[in-house]
Amino acid sequence: MKNYMNIKKDIDYVEHWNDVYSKSETNKLGWYEESPKPSLDLIKKCNLKKNVVILDVGSGVTTLIEKLLEQGYNNIVATDISKVALDKAKERVKAEEAKLVKWIVDDITNSEYLIQPGTIDLWHDRTVLHFLTEENQKDSYLSTLKGLVKVGGFVIIAVFSLEGAKKCSRLDVVNYNHTMISEFLGDEFDLLEHFPYVYIQPSGGERPYVYTLFRRMKY
Ligand SMILES: C[S@@+](CC[C@H](N)C(=O)[O-])C[C@H]1O[C@@H](n2cnc3c(N)ncnc32)[C@H](O)[C@@H]1O
Repeated sequence: MKNYMNIKKDIDYVEHWNDVYSKSETNKLGWYEESPKPSLDLIKKCNLKKNVVILDVGSGVTTLIEKLLEQGYNNIVATDISKVALDKAKERVKAEEAKLVKWIVDDITNSEYLIQPGTIDLWHDRTVLHFLTEENQKDSYLSTLKGLVKVGGFVIIAVFSLEGAKKCSRLDVVNYNHTMISEFLGDEFDLLEHFPYVYIQPSGGERPYVYTLFRRMKY
């Protein structure tokens, strides 16, 4: 994978995230969820068949993958900039089930490996978009999303809300409300649902998020 220091010269994101996941126990991470309930609730509303392609962007070591496998989804793509995270995520699931997931180390702001256009039925992003502070990072994320999500497909984005923290994992974040996410995606995407959600960290800290569900209506 390329080194992304060219996007924002002072931070090597690959190194940053590999370091975070190497040094922390998974269930102590400030975004660890025992149950990814808000995401699962939104996914249920999409009424998807079990064989559709679900892409989890910036998947980390999320419990969402094992929950989706438990529910019978069998065509999942988990992608993250950190190989350390994806290796740990893979260890959490049975070897047979791990084969139902494509584990792709990639930078969503400069994607080299997510190349099959129009194939994604559901794009799920919990707290990746908010790390993209530069216009070129956001543009690249959006063009990858638009290239991959099929018409009729769904997009779930959950990020720190306007009331939320200004940093995550020591990095600056951009705070959003549902209107801002809707404007970011553009008029090809209809906002179906949104809600605020206060996530409680393993340390007890409160982190206000906004969850959004969109459907792609046109190219
Ligand atoms: C706060 S964590 C959330 C992880 C996971 N989505 C969850 O809910 O547990 C953010 C994740 O985004 C990943 N990430 C950050 N920037 C990324 C990028 N440009 N491309 C792909 N993944 C990225 C990090 O490695 C990390 O796993």
